[in-house]
Amino acid sequence: MRLRAFVLSFAILAALVAPSSAQQPAPLRSPDVIFVPTPQEVVDAMLKLAKVTNSDVVYDLGSGDGRIPITAARTYGARGVGIDIDPQRIREATENLKASGQESRVRFLNQDLFTTNISEATVVTLYLLPSLNLKLIPKLNAELKPGTRVVSHAFDMGDAKPISTQNVNGRTIYFWTIPIK
Ligand SMILES: C[S@@+](CC[C@H](N)C(=O)[O-])C[C@H]1O[C@@H](n2cnc3c(N)ncnc32)[C@H](O)[C@@H]1O
Repeated sequence: MRLRAFVLSFAILAALVAPSSAQQPAPLRSPDVIFVPTPQEVVDAMLKLAKVTNSDVVYDLGSGDGRIPITAARTYGARGVGIDIDPQRIREATENLKASGQESRVRFLNQDLFTTNISEATVVTLYLLPSLNLKLIPKLNAELKPGTRVVSHAFDMGDAKPISTQNVNGRTIYFWTIPIK
C-alpha cells in the first residue's frame, strides 16, 4: 500500500514538473563576453559607415538589447537579425522591438553566434572582443558573400587591415569587406 502511494505521488510530481521544464529550454552555454551596449551615436555611425540601405540584411552577432538591428530597420528600412546566447538579452531585445514597431523587419535568435548560419547577411556588426573577432574570421570568410560589409565597434581583427576606421566621440569603429585578409 505504501509503495503504491509512493509511486502515485511520484507520478503526480513528475506530471507537475514536466510541462514547466518543457517550456523552459535549457540555457545555452555562458556568454563569451558580457553585455555592454554600444552608445546610440556609435550605432548610427556604424550603420552609416557600412552604407546600410533598405536592401540590406544586417546581422548583429551578440545583439544585446537589440539596438543595432532595430536602428537598421527604423532608420534605413533594412531587415535585421540579432543573435544572442543570453535569453535575458533576447527578452529585452524582443521588448524593445515591440516598442519600436519594427517587428516585420527584425528578428532575434537565442543562439550561439559561432554556430548560427549567417550566410544571408549583407552587413555584419560586432562588439565583442579582439580574441573573438579573430576566432570569427574563418566563419565570416566561409559563410558571407564576397563584398559583405563588416563593422566592429572598438576591436580590430589582428593583422587584418581595415578598409577604413572612424573615431566617434573617442571610440573607434573598423570597417572591412569580405574576404577579410
Ligand atoms: C558587448 S555586448 C554587445 C551588444 C550589442 N551588439 C551592442 O553593440 O550594443 C556582447 C553581447 O554578446 C553576447 N554574446 C556573448 N557570447 C555570445 C555567443 N557565443 N553567441 C551569441 N551571443 C553572445 C552577450 O550576451 C552580449 O549581449
